Amino acid sequence: MTDVADADVKATLLKLAADAEPPAKLRGTKAARGPRDDGTRPRADVLADRDKMLALTLQESAVARAAQKKRFGFIPTSVLKLSRGILSNQMFNYQREQPSKKSSNQGTAKEKQERLKAMGVNSNASQKISGRGSDGLSMMPAELVDFFCNYYTQPGDVYGDMFMGQGIRMQVANKRKLHYYGYDLSEPFFIYNDAVRKKIDPTEDNLHIYHGDSRFPTEIADDSLDFCFTSPPYWDIEYYSDDPRQAGAPGTTYDEFLRNMYEIMAAWHPKFRDDATIVLNINDFRKNGLFYAYHADLVPVMRRAGYYLTDVWIIEGLVGGMPKAFATSFNDQRIVPKVHEYALVFRKRAVAMPTSFDDE
Ligand SMILES: C[S@@+](CC[C@H](N)C(=O)[O-])C[C@H]1O[C@@H](n2cnc3c(N)ncnc32)[C@H](O)[C@@H]1O
Repeated sequence: MTDVADADVKATLLKLAADAEPPAKLRGTKAARGPRDDGTRPRADVLADRDKMLALTLQESAVARAAQKKRFGFIPTSVLKLSRGILSNQMFNYQREQPSKKSSNQGTAKEKQERLKAMGVNSNASQKISGRGSDGLSMMPAELVDFFCNYYTQPGDVYGDMFMGQGIRMQVANKRKLHYYGYDLSEPFFIYNDAVRKKIDPTEDNLHIYHGDSRFPTEIADDSLDFCFTSPPYWDIEYYSDDPRQAGAPGTTYDEFLRNMYEIMAAWHPKFRDDATIVLNINDFRKNGLFYAYHADLVPVMRRAGYYLTDVWIIEGLVGGMPKAFATSFNDQRIVPKVHEYALVFRKRAVAMPTSFDDE
């Protein structure tokens, strides 16, 4: 892709250079330099200036591309391919290190199978789903967090996370020298994250985490957060705890769940600075034969809570698709194995906008 882009740039340049060739009547003549008596400039001068500008623009573009490659290892585009690698392996990992806690945090094996089925996943194939841990809980790769921190933050920025989960984002934030404020309701996650926090930030300079309901982020100062990259809950598809304050606690409807999301995002709105960037990593899902375009449903929820959408990234390669053997059954059901998820990018707006989901 880079080569094609380079070739395109070269072709455009050659054409521009050809266009910039002085007309035949000017060639071989000594074109006067500098403005004429009437204040106009000879065409040769104008063309020479345009060439210089072009060369400069190209130089700038080459420098910018080189800088992007140096910073990210590649030139980022809206379709992002990232895989779990060394950085993920270096992280403390709840699901790897707390196998005995599985059942307490996950419910029964049957419930787990039901949840996977709900996501359109045959439980036999569950181990092959690369975006999930061995329990079917979504596991965020450190590489993904690192990329978005690198793209949208500077060291010293303040990162807010309303769904801290298993703590990968806290760990990457620390590595990136960001100040991190995280909330989560799940007690097992919190106990684990607090132990990790003590190891990686013993002086408590950077990492501040709270076991509580994100509807009430009382520990976070207004206008203090520059950035958020988080993984919101998945209604009742994923089980985090029995706490009825969980967004999408068992028994809630999808609409109630979206309202929970609204309450949380609205409560965090004053915590962000005006130019903050808020990124939500979202996977759509299926339940009882219905497809939920969760990424699309969250946009009006966010708008009502006071954020506007500025970009959409497609993330490829982290959710698993299906082994070949299941392709026929997908075709029979007239659905397609999913291999992408989203990162929705929002900014904060001064006034919340009503949306159709609950216009009053
Ligand atoms: C999708 S999980 C995040 C897990 C993440 N994918 C990871 O790898 O760590 C969503 C998290 O939101 C938390 N959560 C749900 N409702 C909440 C609430 N009202 N307040 C705080 N945390 C909440 C859950 O406990 C869960 O840890």
